[in-house]
Amino acid sequence: MSLHFLVVYVKSLITENIFSLRILSMFAAPWIIILLSTTCYSLDNGLAKTPPMGWLSWERFRCNTDCVNDPDNCISEKLFQTMTDLIVADGYATAGYEYINIDDCWLEKHRGHDGKLLADHQRFPNGIKALSDYIHSRGLKFGIYEDYGNFTCAGYPGIIGYEQEDAFQFAEWNVDYVKLDGCYSLPHEMDLGYSKFGKLLNSTGKAMVYSCSWPVYQIYAGIQPNFSAVKTYCNLWRNYDDIQDSWTSVENIIDYYGNNQDLIAPNAGPGHWNDPDMLIIGNFGLSYEQAKTQFAIWSILAAPLLMSVDLRTIRPQFKRILQNRKIIAVDQDPLGIQGRRIYKHKGIEIWSKPIGPLFNNFYSYAIAFINRRSDGTPSDISVTLKELGLIHFYGYRVEDLYENVDYGVLYPNTKIKVKVNPSGVVMLKGEVQLPNEM
Ligand SMILES: *[C@@H]1O[C@H](CO)[C@@H](O)[C@H](O)[C@H]1NC(C)=O
Ligand SMILES: *[C@@H]1O[C@H](CO)[C@@H](O)[C@H](O)[C@H]1NC(C)=O
Ligand SMILES: *[C@@H]1O[C@H](CO)[C@@H](O)[C@H](O)[C@H]1NC(C)=O
Repeated sequence: MSLHFLVVYVKSLITENIFSLRILSMFAAPWIIILLSTTCYSLDNGLAKTPPMGWLSWERFRCNTDCVNDPDNCISEKLFQTMTDLIVADGYATAGYEYINIDDCWLEKHRGHDGKLLADHQRFPNGIKALSDYIHSRGLKFGIYEDYGNFTCAGYPGIIGYEQEDAFQFAEWNVDYVKLDGCYSLPHEMDLGYSKFGKLLNSTGKAMVYSCSWPVYQIYAGIQPNFSAVKTYCNLWRNYDDIQDSWTSVENIIDYYGNNQDLIAPNAGPGHWNDPDMLIIGNFGLSYEQAKTQFAIWSILAAPLLMSVDLRTIRPQFKRILQNRKIIAVDQDPLGIQGRRIYKHKGIEIWSKPIGPLFNNFYSYAIAFINRRSDGTPSDISVTLKELGLIHFYGYRVEDLYENVDYGVLYPNTKIKVKVNPSGVVMLKGEVQLPNEM
């Protein structure tokens, strides 16, 4: 996807060099309200009960169609086959990554004489069905990209006028996941258009995850999206800018999701997710600390985990982040509650997500402490469990999800202190205790 919106980065005005934070106030986390407002209507195609995980070409490989000069990196069946092989061989599949998704630039510039979509015959010489079969034969699932408009963002044929043909074409190709972009279409027509295509996908009888760009185009056009409609038709949807290969881009997305969480977070749940866009971990733009932060916050947000990285050359420390089972489990928690930013002050943020197990209506929690400051020394954050909303009398078993440190059972009045590196994160899980585990 290649929207280009103006991005305004608000610079921190904080200049102190030494910083130590003590949280004095109590943050009430409104999880109960969220549960009570659980939607009556949302898409039920049986898919995406937890946020989809996989690999998507766009952020890293863009619209590189030059297979003559750059055969290893162009958008071609070879690239997707190679990534499929690596997802399986390098342990990503067993960690939960299952969708191999094509983005823009897979098509010929024109439809066939019969009106059918054609894959670029030089870059996909065996056609889409063969690629789909290849991916399925490796035990994975196959995703494709189209656009609800006259053209895709990169100028290839869109689905307008061919919605029914294209939905059935995708089913025939055994597509498992459709990302429908919104370039070259009218945002005020998207309520009708995206819902119509969702119904058509359903009518094929082949269940396909439906990824929508509907809200983001409406928001940028000044239209308040009807989220109850969006989650009735889509399994996931974009709200904000395309991610780019930089920490600034990741920070902008984190800010957007924090600043708009009251509007956005309640719409997420099993089968229907907010999509803050791809993981750029392992590429050029993020340091190791920043990559850990992206993974932590995406898991707090119950975000789809779609890697866009060259798996042939990814360095081991980034691979370890992407395969961190404990953090993946936070993202994939079956309750499907999107977490929130519960504290933000002078560059320090605390994000919290209620997860299972539950005991007597008390949740367990994943907590991410992030340091947005750029003064080059770690910041100490000290806080009691109670101040984080962990108030159950029997306490919580607390562990660090990156460092593999188990702190044992701590109680609401216990004060914990974490040291968070600049642009880095400390991520903890507090598992609510039963009386017999005291
Ligand atoms: C799509 O193409 C049709 C036919 O040329 C045109 O009438 C319509 O305005 C176009 N839509 C957009 C959003 O450009
Ligand atoms: C179509 O929608 C119905 C009703 O929501 C649902 O039960 C069914 O699983 C859907 N089928 C597919 C193929 O998505
Ligand atoms: C929003 O969508 C819902 C579900 O499709 C619909 O019932 C409702 O009328 C819509 N609201 C508005 C303001 O369009």
